[in-house]
Amino acid sequence: MRTKVIPIVDLKSQLHDVQEAARLIASGEVVAFPTETVYGLGANALDSKAVNKIFEAKGRPGDNPLIVHINHISQWDELVDSVPEKARILAETFWPGPLTIILKKSSIVAEEVTAGLDTVGVRMPSHPTALKLISESGVPIAAPSANRSGRPSPTTAKHVLEDMDGRIPMLLDGGVCNVGLESTVLSLAGVTPVILRPGGITVEMLRQVIGQVDVHNNVMKPLQDGQKPLSPGMKYSHYAPIAPVTLIRGDYLKLIGFMNQEAGRLEDEGKRVGILATDQTLRSCNHGIRLSLGDREKPSELAFNLFARLREFNHLEVDAILAEGIDEKEEGLAVMNRMARAAGFHIIDL
Ligand code: TXA
Ligand code: MG
Repeated sequence: MRTKVIPIVDLKSQLHDVQEAARLIASGEVVAFPTETVYGLGANALDSKAVNKIFEAKGRPGDNPLIVHINHISQWDELVDSVPEKARILAETFWPGPLTIILKKSSIVAEEVTAGLDTVGVRMPSHPTALKLISESGVPIAAPSANRSGRPSPTTAKHVLEDMDGRIPMLLDGGVCNVGLESTVLSLAGVTPVILRPGGITVEMLRQVIGQVDVHNNVMKPLQDGQKPLSPGMKYSHYAPIAPVTLIRGDYLKLIGFMNQEAGRLEDEGKRVGILATDQTLRSCNHGIRLSLGDREKPSELAFNLFARLREFNHLEVDAILAEGIDEKEEGLAVMNRMARAAGFHIIDL
C-alpha cells in the first residue's frame, strides 16, 4: 500500500482534500490526521472492521481501548449512557481541547473501540483539520496516537511516516502539533473523578473547575504484579526510543553532578550517550550528545519538545539516554509520566 501524504496549508481552499480523507474514513479505511496533541490514526468508531485496521496498522494489543473523537457535543450523547453535570461543565470549559472524558458507554460504540470495557473515552480535539475531518466523514472517529505500538507518539507528519509509511492509505500533514503530548484522560465513571493519564489540561486546571480530582497511583508508579489496571494503557511499555533511558530525579546540583559523572563513565566504556535535559542543566553538562527539552520554568515547552527529542535520539544512534527529571507540577506531571514510561520506570532518585 502507498501512503498518500496531503499537506493541509489552507483548510478553506483545500476542503476537497479533507473530503477525500473523510470518504476513506466513511468507507472503512484508516487515515492519519493532525490534532493539537499528537497525530491520530483514525477510523469510523461505529465500524468494527475499520477499527480493527487501526490495531493492525499500529501493532496494538487488542485489549487497549481507543479514544473517540467528536466535533460536536451532540455526538457525545449518542456514545455514552448519560452525561453527568460535572462532565458537561468540563466539556464546556475545556472542549475543544486536550481532555478525554471517560463515561459509561452506549451500545452503538464498536466493541473493538473499548476493548470490551463498559466505558468509553471521548474528546473533541481543537485542531481545525481534525474537526473538519470528523464533520465531513459524518461519524465519530476512533483514534489512538499514530505511532507503532510502544514508540513515542508522533508530533509531526514525518514522525507518522517513520512508523506508518505503507501501512495506511492516507496522511493529512497539518504541521507540528502544538501541545506535543497526548490528552489528559479523566475518568468520570466512578464516584470521584480520577486522572488516568495526565496531559495538557492539568490537574490544577481540573480542580479549579470541579473540585476534587484524584491522580491515579499508576500515573508515576508501575503496576504491581497481578494488579489490574484501571486503564489498560497503564500496563504497556510506552514512548520508548531505541536506546534505554534512565530518568534521574532529585536535587538539582546533585543531578548535574551525577549526569556528568555517569555520562563520562559510559563514554569511557565506548558508548554514545544522549543527554536529554533542560536549557538550564545543559549549560553545566560537558559530556554526551546533548538535546534540550527547553526552559525548566516552562513545563508546556518541555511537553512540546519531549517526543520529538526522543525520536531525534534514534536518528543520532545513541546507546543510552540520561534524562533529567523535572517538577511534577502543571504539564510537568504529564512530561514525567511519559518520561517514566519511556525509561521503563528505570528511575534514579538522588
Ligand atoms: O491526545 C490524544 O489523546 C491522542 C490524540 C490522537 O487524540 N490519542 C491518544 O490515544 O493518545 P491512545 O490510544 O494512544 O491513548 C489512549 C489512552 C490509553 O492509555 C488507553 O488505555 C486509555 O486512553 N483509554 C481509552 N479508553 C479508555 C477507557 N474506556 N477506560 C480507561 N482507559 C481508556
Ligand atoms: Mg498512544
